[in-house]
Amino acid sequence: MKRIVTLPGDGIGPEITASALKVLEAASQHVDFKFEVEEHTIGGAAIDQDGHPFPDATKKACQAADAILLGAVGGPKWEQAERTPEAGLLEMRQTLELFANLRPVEMHDYLLKDSPLKEEIVKGTDFVMVRELTGGIYFGRPKYFDEEEAVDTLHYNRGEIERIVRLAFDLAKTRKNKVTLVDKANVLASSQLWRKVATQIAQEEYPEVEFEWMYVDNAAMQIITNPTAYDVIVTENMFGDILSDEASVITGSLGMLPSASLSQTNASLYEPIHGSAPDIAGKDIANPMSMILSVTMMLRQSFEEFEMADRIEHACAAVMDRGMRTADLGGDTSHSTFTRAVIDEINKGASS
Ligand code: NAD
Ligand code: IPM
Ligand code: MN
Repeated sequence: MKRIVTLPGDGIGPEITASALKVLEAASQHVDFKFEVEEHTIGGAAIDQDGHPFPDATKKACQAADAILLGAVGGPKWEQAERTPEAGLLEMRQTLELFANLRPVEMHDYLLKDSPLKEEIVKGTDFVMVRELTGGIYFGRPKYFDEEEAVDTLHYNRGEIERIVRLAFDLAKTRKNKVTLVDKANVLASSQLWRKVATQIAQEEYPEVEFEWMYVDNAAMQIITNPTAYDVIVTENMFGDILSDEASVITGSLGMLPSASLSQTNASLYEPIHGSAPDIAGKDIANPMSMILSVTMMLRQSFEEFEMADRIEHACAAVMDRGMRTADLGGDTSHSTFTRAVIDEINKGASS
């Protein structure tokens, strides 16, 4: 029996988590996969209920889980909180040592007409952004601001860079054998260390993998003008945050991209790359794909349930092929109707 901890969080988090669980439940009917779900609070919901955005009970449950599914956190209600929902998310990442955030950007053929970019540019896009998740400017100290001054600290040590860079090279070996390091080594000292360490690892440990580096400003342009040129892009925390939201435009919507956060000491966590989307919360219009695809990443990565993951992906493709689209992709299919269609397709696929 696999133990899945769900952290629905805020905004559209609870809607998309509930839908993805229904999809998982449907897919599990057709194979021998037994799981139990334990729901816990995080973010603003946890502030309201438990007085802390990453409560102790949530921490303990995550530490005992086989996999964790997170919706999203944050919203206007908690912007001035003493401890914000976002601070809770960062505490969770650090506590569970979720140092590697994998954000695949895959251009499914069914999305070709949804992308605002030209079809001939985006067709065949298939890369993974490997974002360092527990270091850099998000966590460096000192960090403070007062009326006159503000300080953030961008710190990395060799060990933090080595483990994420090796993970990126290992991943590339299972894919198209190419790693692109994105940095700002022409300005930032931390990037100079990234460049040095990554180049050493490339030459000494992975001579068979193609390696290149690129400045982040250039990368922001190249990724959307020539997205098929990439396989694995490895980068530090904040660059990865920004570039992955930008990369989602290739697929047509931020609501399409899933992610997996990996740890060497705890269970992996799966979550959409987007946030709590307060502007559309509770309206039954959010795109559930980012969360459904996060579930397929969980099935493959944490449970090696490839058949189930394939079944869910085929169902999503069939629904998209029929032209169903949520509002973010310009359609008028509601969140619940879309989810229902995916579930029906899973059941249909199973009986045929
Ligand atoms: P956001 O990602 O929540 O939303 C950006 C835009 O994309 C909005 O217009 C939103 O409606 C749309 N969008 C996002 N996901 C969608 C989906 N599944 N379907 C349809 N449309 C979708 O970013 P934001 O507005 O800058 O941030 C809102 C809140 O979320 C903030 O509090 C922020 O801190 C938080 N946030 C949390 C996470 C997380 O929990 N991992 C990630 C990013 C932002
Ligand atoms: C993400 C989010 C978070 C981040 C915020 C909410 C702290 O944008 O998961 O991409 O910047 O890492
Ligand atoms: Mn982000």
